[in-house]
Amino acid sequence: MTQTITVIRGDGIGPEIMDATLYVLDALKVGLAYEEADAGLVALEKHGDLLPQATLDSIRKNGVALKSPLTTPVGEGFSSINVALRRHFDLYANVRPAKSFPNTKSRFPSGVDLITVRENTEGAYIGEGQSISEDGETALLTQKITRKGSDRIVRYAYDLARKTGRKKVTIVHKANILKTTSGLFLKVAREVAAQYPDIQTNEMIVDNTCMQLVMRPEQFDIIVTTNLFGDIISDLCAGLVGGLGLAPGANIGVDAAIFEAVHGSAPDIAGKGVANPCALLLGAAQMLDHLGQPEKAERLRAAIIATLDAKDSLTPDLGGEGTTMSFAKAIASRV
Ligand code: NAI
Ligand code: MG
Repeated sequence: MTQTITVIRGDGIGPEIMDATLYVLDALKVGLAYEEADAGLVALEKHGDLLPQATLDSIRKNGVALKSPLTTPVGEGFSSINVALRRHFDLYANVRPAKSFPNTKSRFPSGVDLITVRENTEGAYIGEGQSISEDGETALLTQKITRKGSDRIVRYAYDLARKTGRKKVTIVHKANILKTTSGLFLKVAREVAAQYPDIQTNEMIVDNTCMQLVMRPEQFDIIVTTNLFGDIISDLCAGLVGGLGLAPGANIGVDAAIFEAVHGSAPDIAGKGVANPCALLLGAAQMLDHLGQPEKAERLRAAIIATLDAKDSLTPDLGGEGTTMSFAKAIASRV
């Protein structure tokens, strides 16, 4: 039976990089059927809703979505659609690989190959318990860490290590200061780690982690951490390997998973056909792993690396003169 996935073309450069990505997936013969659904500004214009029920229904039915960036209109009444999707489907694991690629503007053209596993549903981002005093002088925020939330994200990281043949998990925390919240996370993480004696465990305080990542990123393999720390660290890691044009991310829950580029809708270059499609393509590679097609995922990554290596049709952000589609065709010719 053909697997159907939900395809969200999104806003700004979204449709351009999605066309390029689907072109390469066709060349790879992944055998997927696509069900298009709208979200973002385009959905607001067409259906009067940033996140229509039909889109939620499609993702629930198919269980897998490939999503281009969405523009959240600035102004009151619009909360982030991406956050809404994570909440709606309880997408608790945000999985962001960072790998050195050739011919990118990176301080680490080789040696970095790590994955950040960020808890995506609790911590400082629960949106509850925020208050500001009447005089506007004092603001408060509640953080929530649960045993269940910590257990499932740490378990996800260790299972990912086993599945991908990685050797080490670094548990990143601040339990020395945030004794209750980060303390509970670390306690549960240690309990889970003990059940994976085949994987090396390392514990590191978050501020030191940032320094270590910048000085010696090659020491990291899988990093697992809470929501706020993971948000910051995963962007830091994207910066280590050449920035937004090459950074994919997966949001994974029990019943649904959404694969995307980390970058936004890039209104400054939208419609010009020069957006780099690699981040969404690498998100598609994560999706193929998730769908049980790891050889296709590996072929896709290898084709991207070979194209970067050959400096064939690279987009302007990578110093080339290619277009989104000529770059995609160069990649497709190597899959
Ligand atoms: P952005 O990531 O869209 O752009 C930042 C800079 O990076 C721009 O100069 C852009 O041209 C460049 N850039 C981004 N992706 C690129 C690509 N594939 N190829 C070449 N250059 C690329 O971030 P910004 O400007 O802060 O946000 C624009 C819009 O995107 C906002 O409406 C924001 O809400 C939305 N956004 C959506 C996200 C999502 O749906 N996952 C994530 C981040 C932002
Ligand atoms: Mg972020």
